[in-house]
Amino acid sequence: MFVLDLKLPEDFLWGTATSAFQIEMGMGEVDVNSDWYVWVHDEDNIRNGIVSGDLPENGPGFWELYPSDLRLAKEELRNNAFRMSIDWSRIFPEPTWDVPVRVHYDSDGNIREVDVTEESIRLLDERAYKPSVRRYREILSECRNLGLTVLLTLYHWPLPLWIHDPIACRDDISHSNRRGWLDQRTIIEFAKYSAFIAKTFGDLVDIYATMNEPMVVSGAGYFSEKSGFPPGINDLNLFVKVTKNLALAHGIAYEQIKRWDENSCSKWGPAYVGIVHNPQYFEAYNADSREDVIAAEFLAYLQNEWFLNMIVRGDFDMNLDMRVDPSEQRPSLAGRCDFIGVNYYMRIRVKGAESRIPGIPGYETIPCRENCTDMGWEIYPEGIRYELNWAYRLYRRPVMVTENGIADAKDEKRSEFLRAHISEVEKAINDGVPVEGYFYWSLIDNFEWAKGFKMRFGLFRVDYETKRRIPTKAVKVYRQIIEGLKSFSL
Ligand code: FCB
Repeated sequence: MFVLDLKLPEDFLWGTATSAFQIEMGMGEVDVNSDWYVWVHDEDNIRNGIVSGDLPENGPGFWELYPSDLRLAKEELRNNAFRMSIDWSRIFPEPTWDVPVRVHYDSDGNIREVDVTEESIRLLDERAYKPSVRRYREILSECRNLGLTVLLTLYHWPLPLWIHDPIACRDDISHSNRRGWLDQRTIIEFAKYSAFIAKTFGDLVDIYATMNEPMVVSGAGYFSEKSGFPPGINDLNLFVKVTKNLALAHGIAYEQIKRWDENSCSKWGPAYVGIVHNPQYFEAYNADSREDVIAAEFLAYLQNEWFLNMIVRGDFDMNLDMRVDPSEQRPSLAGRCDFIGVNYYMRIRVKGAESRIPGIPGYETIPCRENCTDMGWEIYPEGIRYELNWAYRLYRRPVMVTENGIADAKDEKRSEFLRAHISEVEKAINDGVPVEGYFYWSLIDNFEWAKGFKMRFGLFRVDYETKRRIPTKAVKVYRQIIEGLKSFSL
């Protein structure tokens, strides 16, 4: 018997987190128009072990099964919230380049603002693929009918193919003209897409995340060849450029959502707009080793602070010297973030190593040896309390746990994982951190990017043959926690 006497705010958001590409396909219309779709189908990537060979069209099929899945969230888990995303390529499978907008640049040539007009929205509406618009409206309406407050992510990783050709970029980045986030024009198209989504679904959505884990998009995509993420390049300059473009895109999308969502449907409304970030708990392998400590501090700066400094403070430390020179300050881009979403999974131990890039400390991360998940991530519940405190104290924004979960195919560790992490979230609240919600990753098993279906993060296990959903032991635990039961068994 376990006792957990939680004192969380009445209107605390309890939910699960999902993303479009990972859960939608498997039944109904397959979306072949994104970079990720092409990336995981690419023969070379499969042969070289860059991706698993599993294919998203064999996935859980949320596109058709959303009514019963959402009912599981409401009735079995007693959730009052749901985090989901819309895939850009489903809405705009064809280019929107020629929809006119006015773009303002700063003196360094960075995009500062994009004017999307009523006429631009009308033209975007003409281009939008109507069956997808209808289906997303049905999903969002179903959430509303069930009393699930939606946290909508606009960009959870797939880019339309007309914006990014991941294979051409992988093979020769200098010769592709579809260069994704390396190209400033992607920021302009993202502004149009964001404006269109806010205008079209604003009556059903109040809480938005512009993007999910931008540091994974840039880090795994451009600072690591073997991560399994498109386009699989390792180049510091490209990594810095992409990260900066993502920060600019976030700020510009923030403005669009504020401007175009005029409808409030909850206490949050009309547009409460944040970022979903993944600060990691880095720890020096040997606290007495100066190299280990420097390496851990550098990684914490790079992964956790660098991007948030850009969007919250307007500090663009482009040479990564951990200082912001006056020329790196962009006050006009600061402050565009209402809340910080924290995705938390693990502790990472870090050792100093020989530096391979001048000016950047060398580091090496130690593989998990004990308390590991199927992903090889180290379970460390205390880290979530630390990260929530860290995010709030440094950036003074309310925070939400936008993802936290475990790949656990044998269903042995999930219940305790959930209990222990929620108990640490409560401690953070008692520390004075305004935590507004907790979203478990994920409602159902899904397509875990390069690793495919083997990684089972779902509270409900998915039988991919029959598409049946089977509750794991943690379903009851999560429900009991939410119902405020003080004692329960794991
Ligand atoms: C996060 C991603 C999410 C999922 C989990 C396991 O980094 O945001 O899509 O893959 O990891």
